[in-house]
Amino acid sequence: MSSSTVPADDSTAPLPGAELTVIVPTFNERANVHVLIERLRTTLGDLLWEVIFVDDASPDGTAERVRELATADRRIRCIQRFGRRGLSSACIEGMLASAAPYLAVIDADLQHDESLLPAMLEELRGGAAQIVVGSRYVEGGGIGEWDAGRARLSRIGVRLSRVLVPAELKDPMSGFFMMHRSVFERSRHRLSAIGFKLLADVFASHPEPLRFKELPYRFRPRFAGESKLDSATAWDYAMLLLDKLVGHVVPVRFVAFSIVGAFGVAVHFAVLAPLLRLAHVRFMEAQAIAALCAMTFNFALNNILTYRDARLRGWRWLRGWALFVLACSVGGVMNVAVASFIFKSYGTWVLGALGGIVVGSMWNYAVTKFFTWGRSGS
Ligand code: GDD
Ligand code: MN
Repeated sequence: MSSSTVPADDSTAPLPGAELTVIVPTFNERANVHVLIERLRTTLGDLLWEVIFVDDASPDGTAERVRELATADRRIRCIQRFGRRGLSSACIEGMLASAAPYLAVIDADLQHDESLLPAMLEELRGGAAQIVVGSRYVEGGGIGEWDAGRARLSRIGVRLSRVLVPAELKDPMSGFFMMHRSVFERSRHRLSAIGFKLLADVFASHPEPLRFKELPYRFRPRFAGESKLDSATAWDYAMLLLDKLVGHVVPVRFVAFSIVGAFGVAVHFAVLAPLLRLAHVRFMEAQAIAALCAMTFNFALNNILTYRDARLRGWRWLRGWALFVLACSVGGVMNVAVASFIFKSYGTWVLGALGGIVVGSMWNYAVTKFFTWGRSGS
């Protein structure tokens, strides 16, 4: 439409902002966005709404598709993130880009029932609740066509979440909810932003218990594309729980890094022993080979687990590996230096060894976090 078709007297009039922002995290959902938008149009009618897709540079061109649709409708927006992954952090960034008093999160794959949105908004407007959850586990809701394994996993997740959320919330694992903006503002700086479970994170981060309401819906089969849920999602969830429990004392990434490091020690010995005993390699050489194997193992595992949200691939993987080995070699030298200093000063080798390990791993953690995975914040 050319600008000449817009009446002149209207062109400077402000257009009101949205009352409701629907945030949709996406990764490879190209075939779903159009259908979701159509359904939002139908269900939200003439409400003042907008939709923000937060896409983590999907290779299938989801963001391009959203922008294409956005040229015909200003209520559609797209945030594209590069070199980052994560459902929760994506939703948080979408919320930060919105000024609306009400914020909803819904998946792009049409598994959540968007026709619930007006009722959710109604509950919030009335002030009866601060947050409304689309629930599969209250009367009238259901998990649809899940296989027994996935259903069991979900139940275990719900049980574990009890350390974070009140028992009365029947579906703390839900990825479909709407809240008043103030709920987000007041929990924002405490959010762990790890993994898939933003709702549980919000409940655990809000300074006071939340007044909530659950509305039933039936979880539908995915429309197009594939689920991004994999075994590392369980790890993310464990990290979220851990962060909420001990995160104020020690960074959860450091805990993860240390767990990985402990496995690295096992790898070191598993390589060292046969080199010495079977291949009769000289100790110095065997030790160097074992250390390189352990460092490579640690790098690969940290890349998949600890820094899942900043995972390196391709040539950046190689570069990251080289930086990691370099940093950890310095860490190794520091380890030995600190250990021998303590040993000489106090004469106890256990204390010396422990001191060396603690200082060495803290160095490794701090340096690789910044140089290898480019994280300066959390
Ligand atoms: N930006 C971004 N980044 N989006 C992501 C990422 C990511 O790393 N991973 C997944 N998504 C998007 C997907 O594109 C989809 O729109 C939505 O997040 C949910 O991902 P699915 O892969 O469809 O997850 P699911 O169906 O197995 O689980 C969903 O439903 C459960 C039950 O409500 C999630 O919402 C879970 O959090 C929820 O527990
Ligand atoms: Mn899904």
